[in-house]
Amino acid sequence: MNRAIHLSLFLTLSSLPALAQTPPAAQQQQDKPPSPTPASPLATAMAPADNRPAAEIAAERDLLMNQILEMIKGRESEPAESVFKNILMMKGAPAGRLVRMMNMGFARSLGVSCGHCHVPGEWEKEDKPQKQIAREMMAMSRTIGGEILPKIKNLRSEQPAVNCTTCHRGQLKPALDLGGPPPAAK
Ligand code: HEC
Ligand code: HEC
Repeated sequence: MNRAIHLSLFLTLSSLPALAQTPPAAQQQQDKPPSPTPASPLATAMAPADNRPAAEIAAERDLLMNQILEMIKGRESEPAESVFKNILMMKGAPAGRLVRMMNMGFARSLGVSCGHCHVPGEWEKEDKPQKQIAREMMAMSRTIGGEILPKIKNLRSEQPAVNCTTCHRGQLKPALDLGGPPPAAK
């Protein structure tokens, strides 16, 4: 799915509230080296990574996707916002495409199941911060593909784009290095 989803609505997205506070010194572990990116209180309240085997996670994703596709049978081509209740970013996208994108585009790219962003069955609710993060990630990807990449000359693609997989590659937290030992010093 290389083609960016057509979008009729742009949102002014505010960033998440800055909740970070410095914990009292007494709570800090003395002998552990400080983590390079300390988790904010919001991050600790967020759903943890899913440690189940990848095949089990994938099977659950497919099951939930197919359940919804069954529920909306006959209405797959209608705009998502006329089939679902709380569509802000994907207005205009066919409902069936939204459901498949939830699986292949979002959940698989991040290496999680639907429950990372939703309470399964209560899809329209906004009870997990990841759902709103995902919207802001969509907006970011569109800005990169729509405004930033087109200004870079001499790229290989006529319409260079990024999507969730470009950065996440099956992980919640995109890598900042390639892993393994650093290149040997001369
Ligand atoms: C990374 C977060 C994320 C994951 C994972 C995810 N979703 Fe979503 N989901 C969203 C967002 C964001 C929206 C709202 C899209 C919008 O505003 O246009 C949404 C909307 C929906 C809706 C429409 C609900 C309504 O009535 O408004 C359904 C149904 C849905 N998701 C199903 C799924 C299923 C099934 C899976 C797993 C295969 C899944 N989602 C995985 C973020 C996620
Ligand atoms: C340009 C790179 C990039 C792209 C493209 C991107 N992300 Fe992210 N994403 C990040 C970074 C960086 C973080 C923050 C990781 C951290 O917590 O340090 C993140 C975090 C997230 C989180 C929070 C995960 C958690 O629970 O800890 C979600 C959800 C998410 N992204 C969803 C998406 C979705 C959905 C898309 C595609 C629409 C997407 N991202 C595209 C870079 C990207």
